Amino acid sequence: MKTEIATSSFRGRFIRAKRYIEEGEVVAFHTETVYGLGANAFSDEAVQKIFALKGRPADNPLIVHVHQEYDISPLIDSEPPYAGALRKAFLPGPLTMVYPSTGKVSKYVSCGLNTLAIRVPSSPTAQAFLKAVNLPIAAPSANLSKHVSPVTARHVFEDFNEKIPLILDGGACSGGIESTVLDCTGEVPQILREGLVTREMIAAVAGDCKLYHAAAGERPKSPGMAYKHYSPRCRTAYFTETEAAKAAYHEEKEAGGTPCILCDSGAAAQLGGYEVLELGGTGEVMAQRLYALLRRGEKIATLLIGIEPQEREGCMAGVLNRMRRAFGAEHGTEES
Ligand code: TXA
Ligand code: MG
Repeated sequence: MKTEIATSSFRGRFIRAKRYIEEGEVVAFHTETVYGLGANAFSDEAVQKIFALKGRPADNPLIVHVHQEYDISPLIDSEPPYAGALRKAFLPGPLTMVYPSTGKVSKYVSCGLNTLAIRVPSSPTAQAFLKAVNLPIAAPSANLSKHVSPVTARHVFEDFNEKIPLILDGGACSGGIESTVLDCTGEVPQILREGLVTREMIAAVAGDCKLYHAAAGERPKSPGMAYKHYSPRCRTAYFTETEAAKAAYHEEKEAGGTPCILCDSGAAAQLGGYEVLELGGTGEVMAQRLYALLRRGEKIATLLIGIEPQEREGCMAGVLNRMRRAFGAEHGTEES
């Protein structure tokens, strides 16, 4: 199968995408967070195709994506009072809300859970695609399972060339890390995966917001958080101190390797003469650059060395979560 990257100059690309979706095919599309790998959420076969293409564990549920005007009420059983206020404040945008499900979409979407995760992306490319199909589109990030999430159409192509017919190119993703996943089934909203919409931002609207931590040995509420994730395909090391990173760098060089250091601007300023991939200085910039730099790092380095950024404001909780997991410094109870 030929994989076509369709930019905005490709007229009729959304009509083409709609036809593929109706035929049960999988189509990749731009969102403001990362690229998604989408299929008709009502179709068992189409949803199963996503799992097969990604090599995704069968117990890791998918998010359903809908356009701004799509009526989600047939899909969800109930909605707590705070959810309406959150939708008004943050949607369309990088917030995924988990509701009690009516079970109308394919059972493979939620992998046996009685909840459904719904997201309304703000990307104009995603909105145009979702409006054209006018269906809930189940979509994980468009990377092979465990690999770094894609933030350009080229990244998707690298993982799925000849495996999917179409990539709807909307340019580089401005957000850069996946959406915040928020459990909206309880009295107080609870973050299952941190992202660009922060706990503080949610609490300011909903009055309160909890952060979920799976207890040791417990199956996490958001099963994706249990798996090794976001991993570059080279050896990695992770440090909190620049001096330790320098030592690892020299050791790798002496062994004949090509080390590279991924770090914030502050650390980069102390690393003249070293091969460095610079994340930036603020949470928003680091989120935007992280995945592209991890994918760059795996291409140029035998050992990619991460230094923990200093910044803690804004969306840094999400950035640190992805970075630690990419470097194997933090992951869930099991790996796949
Ligand atoms: O920004 C995003 O969310 C991107 C773009 C494409 O929209 N999508 C994305 O999907 O990151 P994925 O499949 O890579 O991650 C979905 C996460 C997983 O951690 C999964 O376990 C969790 O959402 N999830 C999905 N449905 C859930 C549910 N019903 N209850 C709890 N967690 C759920
Ligand atoms: Mg993913």
